[in-house]
Amino acid sequence: MTNISGLIISQNSSSKRIINIKIKDQATNELVKLFKNFDLTAIEYKPFTRFTVAKYLDDLTNNELSKYLNDILRDRKTGCFIINPEKITNKTDDIFLVKLSTAITHLIGTPNHDSMAGKFYARFHVKHEDKSDSYLRKAYINLDLHTDGTYVKDVTDWLLMTKIEEMNVEGGESVMLHLDDWEHCKELFNDPIGRENFIWSSPKSKNIDYKVEHPVFFEDNQGLPHISYIDQFPEPQNMKQGQFLQKLSDALEGSKNKIITKLPVGSAIVANNRFWLHGRKPFKKNKKLSRELLRIRGKF
Ligand SMILES: [Fe+2]
Repeated sequence: MTNISGLIISQNSSSKRIINIKIKDQATNELVKLFKNFDLTAIEYKPFTRFTVAKYLDDLTNNELSKYLNDILRDRKTGCFIINPEKITNKTDDIFLVKLSTAITHLIGTPNHDSMAGKFYARFHVKHEDKSDSYLRKAYINLDLHTDGTYVKDVTDWLLMTKIEEMNVEGGESVMLHLDDWEHCKELFNDPIGRENFIWSSPKSKNIDYKVEHPVFFEDNQGLPHISYIDQFPEPQNMKQGQFLQKLSDALEGSKNKIITKLPVGSAIVANNRFWLHGRKPFKKNKKLSRELLRIRGKF
């Protein structure tokens, strides 16, 4: 494993494709101090300040972290990491985690505007009761495997999801699937319907007033499969598109090679959005259930 000052790097216990990166206590304390130079308003209003906090993080690792994160995300064999402070304390609070997530993403690329939140990141809760119009906040229903950005014009090369806080939570584990581990990848990638344009739209809460068209499967420059898919937002135009999507959905959810992992509070999972799919298991019923998440999506 790579050795970078200020970090503890290891393989995730549930998959050799996922790298765990812990920020040592001393480096975390340094970051806490440095991040205090800017409040959240500055981070939200001044795009260049986001790069300043990213540079703080990189400097702490002799500028090795930015290269390492990019290497992981672009490497087909891995493409995913989980990063978190070694210890969560009252100093590594929600504001710190927003700044840390900002820093990480600005070492990778440029975040897209998140229309649901009206800024470059979105914070949202999953609770017992929900009146929203998508599966994202439905605690007791499986959030099926999907990629992000399927219904927007922006390129979505990667995504970050940070668990800011949770209370009274059982279940709700993260589910991840790498295309190269998926038993049915070859069959569906080679199906001509998967290369046809599909129409993709989204419900009101996403604040996107247009539809896009693109296929489910693409090829990278080496001919390897990329996917852009979510169950809720395609608009199949005929029986063969409908049946293809049903087959795809069943084959993804039925995979035996899904990685199920419990994301600790304070940690961010970052994945290549072209060959990793993500989802969430249902939570156990609890009226006091609460989880707060942060997400950032962007391009390299
Ligand atoms: Fe997602």
